[in-house]
Amino acid sequence: MALQAAALVPSAFSVPKEGKSSASLKDSSLFGVSLDQLKAEFGSASLRCKREFNLRTGPARAQTAATTTPSVTKSAPEGKKTLRKGSVIVTGASSGLGLATAKALAETGKWHVIMACRDFLKAERAAKSAGIAKENYTIMHLDLASLDSVRQFVDNFRRSGRPLDVLVCNAAVYQPTAKEPSFTAEGFEISVGTNHLGHFLLSRLLLDDLNKSDYPSKRLIIVGSITGNTNTLAGNVPPKANLGDLRGLAGGLNGLNTSSMIDGGSFDGAKAYKDSKVCNMLTMQEFHRRYHEETGITFASLYPGCIATTGLFREHIPLFRLLFPPFQKFITKGFVSEEEAGKRLAQVVSDPSLTKSGVYWSWNKDSASFENQLSQEASDVEKAGKMWEISEKLVGLA
Ligand SMILES: NC(=O)c1ccc[n+]([C@@H]2O[C@H](COP(=O)([O-])OP(=O)(O)OC[C@H]3O[C@@H](n4cnc5c(N)ncnc54)[C@H](OP(=O)(O)O)[C@@H]3O)[C@@H](O)[C@H]2O)c1
Repeated sequence: MALQAAALVPSAFSVPKEGKSSASLKDSSLFGVSLDQLKAEFGSASLRCKREFNLRTGPARAQTAATTTPSVTKSAPEGKKTLRKGSVIVTGASSGLGLATAKALAETGKWHVIMACRDFLKAERAAKSAGIAKENYTIMHLDLASLDSVRQFVDNFRRSGRPLDVLVCNAAVYQPTAKEPSFTAEGFEISVGTNHLGHFLLSRLLLDDLNKSDYPSKRLIIVGSITGNTNTLAGNVPPKANLGDLRGLAGGLNGLNTSSMIDGGSFDGAKAYKDSKVCNMLTMQEFHRRYHEETGITFASLYPGCIATTGLFREHIPLFRLLFPPFQKFITKGFVSEEEAGKRLAQVVSDPSLTKSGVYWSWNKDSASFENQLSQEASDVEKAGKMWEISEKLVGLA
């Protein structure tokens, strides 16, 4: 039954805040579909500022409705203006959404993409096989599961002398079948450590660089997910995202003297991923509240749709990986190709009509963008502030 309900759910369906979901699924699953459900259904029938950062350049102009016309750098001899390319960092650009976004942006000829990846050779092969022209990308090493690596990346990027116009925090790990937690270099549970804390430090450090950009629209985008939003059918599939009172996060998520889970509960890899996505969406909003007015930077998040074919599901069991894409394509109709999802994220990077800050973007069945509503927890101002302060301590910024 839940499956039939999901079949009616468009990719960006939201249950109103006060609404109750009828989902009653169990298992560590994604996008409204549990493996048990898949098995059952497939078997019986034929077949989703705080001011401490250094504004070294001083206060920037307010910028709420900027355009993405590339900035003017010099005048051509005949009096025509020449325009520079935008410079965008995309984390996790070696596969899936990140690669498709890099390709979509590079193909316009208006963007130089810095592919921030943990596996240099994989990224190089991926860029080549995607047909991204050499002059439109640079690969730089970044392992978000190591705060030292994040700091090193920022140093290297600054040394490259490139401007930073847009930062896209896209990379993620998802460990739905892990029985035991694994940890980052600093000992944080790996999903929250990578998806949230690594990106938190990266974006905090690069805020200063973004602020210096003279590009007409500078943006910081953190990829979110429907699975972290409990105001959706998919977000109601257990284990649901829940940060609780953040006691595990405050304890350092090390699984030794404290829990490896943000809410202090027992380890659950699927929940850890969903919790990390809630942190991503809270972080975007907290950035907006603290820095948008002063810097003019657009802070945004998005749910690109269910891209059931990406490497995100690499650690799921084989049967799930086999059935999930056709299930999303033909049953829920929530499936989005990597190419289409890449175009959506590229739109959030560069579309002149998507400059509004503090927004969580989604797309309807006709692939038209709209401002979606976040769940109560994913838009909890008090929790966002507390999460921000704890995260600052964990990554060594406070
Ligand atoms: N797939 C979906 O249906 C879906 C739906 C909603 C949101 N999203 C979001 O979309 C984003 C991209 O996911 P995807 O589906 O494209 O998955 P993917 O193909 O697995 O891409 C994830 C990327 O993150 C990189 N990565 C993982 N750990 C890293 C680390 N420690 N340091 C640096 N990079 C690291 C991976 O690098 P390697 O190539 O080296 O492994 C890969 O490039 C994620 O934020 C995810 O939450 C996906």
